Amino acid sequence: MSLNQVKKILGEPYYQSEGCLLYNLDCLQAMQRLQNEFVNLTLTSPPYNIGKEYETPKPLEEFLSWCEKWIADIYRITRSNGAFWLNLGYLSIPGRAKAIPIPYILWDRVPFYLVQEVVWNYGAGIAGKRFFSPRNEKFLWYVKDENEYTFNLDDVRDPDVKYPNQKKNGKIKVNPLGKNPTDVWQLPKVTSGRNRSSKERTPHPAQFPIAVVERIIRASSNPGEIVLDPFIGSGSTAIAALDLQRPVIGFELKEDYCRVAAKRIKDFLELKQIRKAQGRLFVQEPTPSQTSIYDKEGS
Ligand SMILES: C[S@@+](CC[C@H](N)C(=O)[O-])C[C@H]1O[C@@H](n2cnc3c(N)ncnc32)[C@H](O)[C@@H]1O
Repeated sequence: MSLNQVKKILGEPYYQSEGCLLYNLDCLQAMQRLQNEFVNLTLTSPPYNIGKEYETPKPLEEFLSWCEKWIADIYRITRSNGAFWLNLGYLSIPGRAKAIPIPYILWDRVPFYLVQEVVWNYGAGIAGKRFFSPRNEKFLWYVKDENEYTFNLDDVRDPDVKYPNQKKNGKIKVNPLGKNPTDVWQLPKVTSGRNRSSKERTPHPAQFPIAVVERIIRASSNPGEIVLDPFIGSGSTAIAALDLQRPVIGFELKEDYCRVAAKRIKDFLELKQIRKAQGRLFVQEPTPSQTSIYDKEGS
């Protein structure tokens, strides 16, 4: 199933550009209409049921069953060698937990195979008085087939190696591309505030930093493969996917955020076009394999 076929089923999107479809739709209703096994990578962060401006908290069991439903649909539309990266934080359960990691209570409702939990450690956040200041969220890396999945380690190696010239038996020990970035990622959060606002900040209160999304897309997909974010918010997943030549589909329930995401993607593509035109003054024309790979039928 290509992006054009998705359009035939779901109709005109809120925003589109080459390789990108953004729908102002409830992701559950939208995904139910899509065919089986065509998405290579889903990367998303759902509402955490904690009363953010984009959600109305539900009773816990209702929230968990809702998660189970959209996760089941992601499973159904994921290709047999595909992956699902799920970013989750914490929620409170009165009388039981001040902040329980959501993966604990969702564990038995996810049909995917869990490869790994990655800890995203960031520098900014609330200051705890009767507890340690929270500075992490989790990314759960799921795949459909435990033996067949993409992991492009060389594309995400960390070049910041402490002893790059260290030798073993006379040979340089360290991979020249850098080290494995490990399962703890120290990457800054998108922050707000007059003096400490991140450059990439939009009005969305829970925006993914592009650096985090980029690492996941590079590691778990290849150019031309379809990326999906069913809770796309400000459009971070779309920007990273487009930059890395992956076609992308996004769903977002709130029109205000669709507007933010659409403008952000449009501005990004315009800037990319300008940079490309400027680059042409100095660099050779791209080879055919570097030109459009979008709408390629999956094999
Ligand atoms: C945690 S935020 C995601 C932010 C996003 N990762 C970003 O980089 O901006 C969750 C988003 O899901 C949207 N949302 C909530 N319920 C939805 C649904 N049923 N279908 C689609 N989007 C939904 C919310 O409006 C919110 O923007």
